[in-house]
Amino acid sequence: MKIMRVESLVYGVEDVESGIRYYEDWGLPCVERGALGAEFRMPSGQSILIRPASDAALPAAPDGGSTLREAIWGVEDAASLEAIGAELARDREVRTDSRGGLHARDEAGFAIGFRPLSKGTKTDAAAASRMNHPFDPERRARPTRLGHIVYNIPEQWIEKVLAFYLERLKFRLTDRALDTGAFMRCAGSTDHHNLFFATRYDRPSFNHAAFEVRDIDEIILGGKYMKSRGWQANSPVGRHILGSNLFWYFNNPCGGRTEYFADMDQMDDNWKPRVWEKNPGFAMWMLEKADAPELTRI
Ligand SMILES: [Fe+2]
Repeated sequence: MKIMRVESLVYGVEDVESGIRYYEDWGLPCVERGALGAEFRMPSGQSILIRPASDAALPAAPDGGSTLREAIWGVEDAASLEAIGAELARDREVRTDSRGGLHARDEAGFAIGFRPLSKGTKTDAAAASRMNHPFDPERRARPTRLGHIVYNIPEQWIEKVLAFYLERLKFRLTDRALDTGAFMRCAGSTDHHNLFFATRYDRPSFNHAAFEVRDIDEIILGGKYMKSRGWQANSPVGRHILGSNLFWYFNNPCGGRTEYFADMDQMDDNWKPRVWEKNPGFAMWMLEKADAPELTRI
């Protein structure tokens, strides 16, 4: 059983038009748009689906309003999909869709799905290569892939959530801070994290989705463009400590936030998970207003 990456996110959105405009401005190519919403598809093949929050076909989410309704994980092959189906069917309902994808719920109640990666799909560093990927002359970000997602849960749920993802879905623990949450990566990924559960919350909810761009310049170009289009930054530009990635967060009308990120730590089988009594901190550095007033007026 090998899960490779986040393959697709399905949002249920109250203001669909606004949600579509947001992801267009974020820099994702829209491949389909109609009465039911829109689909964005990245160079990596990963996709973002925007649907009306009222769409009865979407799984319910623990949090209300505009939010993530389902995260679909891409798996290595048909055998992996079958193994996941058999594992989850031991203690929960697993639904198979018309294309063979699987759908269930995780231990926190979030809807999760699984489907095989399409053949020839580039993952991780290969997808983020600078080959044939020049700067956009319009000075916008053009994210190459979806790197990770983050959920909020109550602290007392973390053990059962970790057991579910680590033992049953074979995610790997990279870092765990006992006061803030756990960073995990898919078995088929070397990213510091593809999944983070943040534990300082009373109720389960979606936190953010992170999109990789090539470097700090593209983060700044992308964020400045977002601000010029009227979207609100949710953080200054900075570099995280756990994961080391450069970041800039924005509030997403589809639910939660999105993050432009670049230059994340990569971990292989030699990495020993770290457990921190206390989180070493949100950021190695962040630009302050005095450093870059036009960037941080948020
Ligand atoms: Fe993130």
